[in-house]
Amino acid sequence: MWSIEEKLALRLQERVSQNNLRELPIVQKKIDFCSNDYLGLASNAALAQQIQQTYAQLPFLQNGSTGSRLISGNSLYAMELEEALATTFQAEKALLFNSGYSANTAILSAIPQKGDTIVYDEYIHASLKEGARLSFASRYPFRHNDLEDLEKKLGKATGEKFVVAESVYSMDGDVAPLEEILRICRKYNAHLIWDEAHSTGVWGENGNGIACTQQLQNQIFARIYTFGKAMGVHGACIAGSAVLIDYLVNFARPFIYTTALPLHSLVSIREAFKFLQANTYLQHTLYTRIAAFAAELMKYPSLQTRWIKSESAIQAIKIGGNALTKTIASQLQTADYDVRAILSPTVKEGEERLRICLHVYNTEEEIRNLVEYLTHVFMQTTAGFAASSG
Ligand SMILES: Cc1ncc(COP(=O)(O)O)c(C=O)c1O
Repeated sequence: MWSIEEKLALRLQERVSQNNLRELPIVQKKIDFCSNDYLGLASNAALAQQIQQTYAQLPFLQNGSTGSRLISGNSLYAMELEEALATTFQAEKALLFNSGYSANTAILSAIPQKGDTIVYDEYIHASLKEGARLSFASRYPFRHNDLEDLEKKLGKATGEKFVVAESVYSMDGDVAPLEEILRICRKYNAHLIWDEAHSTGVWGENGNGIACTQQLQNQIFARIYTFGKAMGVHGACIAGSAVLIDYLVNFARPFIYTTALPLHSLVSIREAFKFLQANTYLQHTLYTRIAAFAAELMKYPSLQTRWIKSESAIQAIKIGGNALTKTIASQLQTADYDVRAILSPTVKEGEERLRICLHVYNTEEEIRNLVEYLTHVFMQTTAGFAASSG
């Protein structure tokens, strides 16, 4: 009879043999091509000072929020922040969550009911899938960004129909065709749940994302914005109609049964948006970095064919195979480029890749050197792997 520890150890051993054991990395001072801090706000000294000064000037002191929003954790400050977020995201109301993960599980577990159908892009984030699993609705994936497949799946859907998609996909960096998705939603009377995690801050006026930039926000049932990526702080909100938000306050378990964000986090969110509004050049600088990366790749056909074309700060180069992808990433790391390997099962087998995140603080020279070195390592390593398997 095996003990539970032996069973767990066996599953870990399987990961070792598949080359995909997860281990906590020691974060070292390398050239950052992996964090979500696209605008550099997480380490921006001026923003840090602004947050500290505003926090210190508040007429009250509070280290923790002391309870859930529905008991002792609510505050006028939180409600005013939600009003400001609703204005930024051009919605009737907004509701704060402790993280994007929590917002996503909340909305999908609370709204679709038994007999309803959730049709989701196969590449949506784990938190959205988790929420859908917690609901009693039927669930069907559609092929990534494939509108025909979306229509096919919606054609078979029953009850209230929900479509789930992301503005920018976290592993591929590509942008979803929002207008076309909404056209299909209208045709099938489906409601769109739209996650803007990787476009919050990066796109749009005051960082209000892709839906607002395209003026399509009013056609979307629910939008999720997160603050731990380009905004450089922490937390998330759901924006939508007043009825949607009042419903979530009553039925969303990850909202109801958790300690609210502390005051310091609320101040940080508010000041991060104010800071971005006063420093819009950060978005433009990021766009120049993204353009520089694309231009650099054009020089190297061997990488170009493996590149998932992306206009976002997330760039992916498909390598294929956990061992090969890991080897290339580790060589880049040795050369001081912090590029991470994304392995299966996080992505499909055969689609293992290097995920390169671009930031305002990556200089064009660093980007040029990275692409050049990556090409060199890629050629050398693939040749080595081919020789050893041949
Ligand atoms: C698309 C997407 N949605 C939601 C989340 C979760 O957001 P948070 O990190 O705030 O929990 C992530 C984080 O990786 C994400 O990539």
